[in-house]
Amino acid sequence: MDGSGDQPLSIARRRFLRAGLTGGAALAGSLAAGRAAAADDPAITEIQDWNRYSGDGVDAHPYGMPSKFEAEVVRRNVPWLTADPISSVNFTPLHALDGIITPNGLCFERHHGGAAVIDPAEHRLMVNGLVDKPLVFTMDDLKRFPRHNKIYFLECAANTGMEWRGSQLNGCQFTHGMVHCVMYTGVLLKDILNEAGIKPAGKWVLAEGADAAAMTRSIPMEKALDDCMVAFAMNGEALRVEQGYPIRLVVPGFEGNMWVKWLRRLEVGDEPWEQREETSKYTDLLANGKARHFTWTMEVKSVITSPSPQAPIKHGKGPLVLAGLAWSGNGTITRVDVTTDGGRNWKTARIDGPSLPFALHRFYYEMDWDGSEMFLQSRAMDEKGYVQPTKQALRAVRGSNSIYHNNGIQTWYVNKDGAAENVEIS
Ligand code: MTE
Ligand code: CO
Repeated sequence: MDGSGDQPLSIARRRFLRAGLTGGAALAGSLAAGRAAAADDPAITEIQDWNRYSGDGVDAHPYGMPSKFEAEVVRRNVPWLTADPISSVNFTPLHALDGIITPNGLCFERHHGGAAVIDPAEHRLMVNGLVDKPLVFTMDDLKRFPRHNKIYFLECAANTGMEWRGSQLNGCQFTHGMVHCVMYTGVLLKDILNEAGIKPAGKWVLAEGADAAAMTRSIPMEKALDDCMVAFAMNGEALRVEQGYPIRLVVPGFEGNMWVKWLRRLEVGDEPWEQREETSKYTDLLANGKARHFTWTMEVKSVITSPSPQAPIKHGKGPLVLAGLAWSGNGTITRVDVTTDGGRNWKTARIDGPSLPFALHRFYYEMDWDGSEMFLQSRAMDEKGYVQPTKQALRAVRGSNSIYHNNGIQTWYVNKDGAAENVEIS
């Protein structure tokens, strides 16, 4: 990107070009995170209220909530992005979370007709179409199939979509927060389909939601018979209403749109529903006017969650932990590299915690910050050997018309005060 004006980067943030780079952060030999004891620090010298008085009893919080000091850690929407909150999205506060599991109450929500509130006793799942025996299941019926527990990420195809046209949103919650990762409990879609008996001509499974949008997507039979699940629990408890209570489809590694919530019907067919109806929403428009179709797999991606615009460095120079997330719809993440100087030098980060296929991976990079400005990036690689591309490389192939499937490398500019900003560099 040469700044000649023929590409759509955000002008306001163009001032951060390579010319402005200083040395970046050096790796230190000694990491000392502690501080010298201050004799007059009241946090040490005074007896605090919580130490003086007893706290709430065990009957105060039948369903526990986070500490009131975590009140800022919430899903947020961007009101100008959509016309109405009924058909909209809010974002997971990735900058404030750690590990690989997203707490249920913080999983981003994306729905087209609001969140349906369904009494599980009244809910039915119908299987029809090209099957030997059309069937209807109650929730109790579903729970008689063998159960499976799997940790998977769900990423909306539109995640990072605003960034196709340059740096737009200032915070990884907004640029990357249409992703969550929970442990699902449910039954295999193939067990349900096999009970109905798939006719030889059955090549697609149409999944339909019971919400006001009656959200509908087709799943290729090969995937349906592989690892798809009908889930009724997340992180050990019943699905949340926003996530499709009482059941949702789980389509590991595939775009979130296919994970139909409030699932009420599975119709086996010989062609995808998308071919019968107008569904241009879910294609990727290229520069030449053609569109990519059925781009289901979420390609390898990563982001540094801290520091980031909503999580600046507050402690000054010295030991600094870069934390981030990586994921791939092709399986596991095998490596994540990070750079503090906009890609001149890359170091391999440490993946910590479980490395599971189609799940978020947590990475850290411990460093000694010398207080100079940084251009932070992370670049993930997956088990199929795919490497996360730069945004420039992505645009060279896909143009910038699409809002879907942007897995380009993200840059945070960190100034000498530790504040971070969403930028693009050449
Ligand atoms: N299922 C129904 N029934 N209705 C919807 O609007 N939105 C889809 C998908 N399943 C949707 C749906 C989209 S676009 C995404 S990205 C995911 O659900 C979001 O899942 P979540 O709300 O659990 O994050
Ligand atoms: Co979506």
